[in-house]
Amino acid sequence: AQKPILIQGPMPIEAEKFAQRLDNVKVEKSGNFIFYKGKLDKYPVIVAKTGKGMENTAAATAIAIEKYDPAAIINQGTSGGHDPSLNVYDIVLGERTVNIGSLKTGHLEAGEGIDPTNWIPMDLMASEGSAGEDPNAEKIRYYEGDENLLAAANAVKDKYTKGKVVEGTIGSADVWNNEVDRINWFHENYGTSVEEMEGAAAAQIAGAYDVPFLGIRILSNNKTNGGQYDPNTAAANQDYVYEVVKQYISEI
Ligand code: 5AD
Repeated sequence: AQKPILIQGPMPIEAEKFAQRLDNVKVEKSGNFIFYKGKLDKYPVIVAKTGKGMENTAAATAIAIEKYDPAAIINQGTSGGHDPSLNVYDIVLGERTVNIGSLKTGHLEAGEGIDPTNWIPMDLMASEGSAGEDPNAEKIRYYEGDENLLAAANAVKDKYTKGKVVEGTIGSADVWNNEVDRINWFHENYGTSVEEMEGAAAAQIAGAYDVPFLGIRILSNNKTNGGQYDPNTAAANQDYVYEVVKQYISEI
């Protein structure tokens, strides 16, 4: 049997539009996670509504891999801009995805305060030893986007007319950053193009099972250039990702 392509979206507005475009849909539930199993161009495609955040996404990814053995996973949805050259409706293909909530603080004594710009990236996958004590863990872990998924996404770039499509770095954490200096700090130190709350969790679990992975994120807001939040971006991203999946399937 053909292995399905898994398309993840956190919120109803980020998953249901894609699910509605599938043929012969069967809905399955596991915990809070909803899986819409259907067909696209006669090929099996599963849309997963994961819920928001890293924990929901990691669990939904592991469950989907165990239950459905997907050939590839695309995690997609909205995001906030870290790069001032990107506007609301632009789309970032995650050449890399990174957890921007995995940090170790500096050493300060009682009364010395809190100093986030001196926090150090922490790689929980660096070793099986204590990440707090291991100097090798003091680094950023990037998850690489799959080459073939990236190629399919680049091949249909021109079908997207509401903004530009660029390759970049997607940063994830259960944090919504509204401090522009903090956003700029991530942009400079991690090279982030956008932030959201799911991609790195899905990438980490996909990597654990060796499943090809790509994050695809549209900007719904950008604090660095005054881009106001627009929820309609969620639907626009699904329309683009639909074209990406069609292209990817045509090459299998
Ligand atoms: N910061 C963090 N998450 C964001 N999201 C959209 N914009 C941002 C932002 N600026 C996405 C997250 C999460 C929900 C709150 O919207 O991925 O699912």
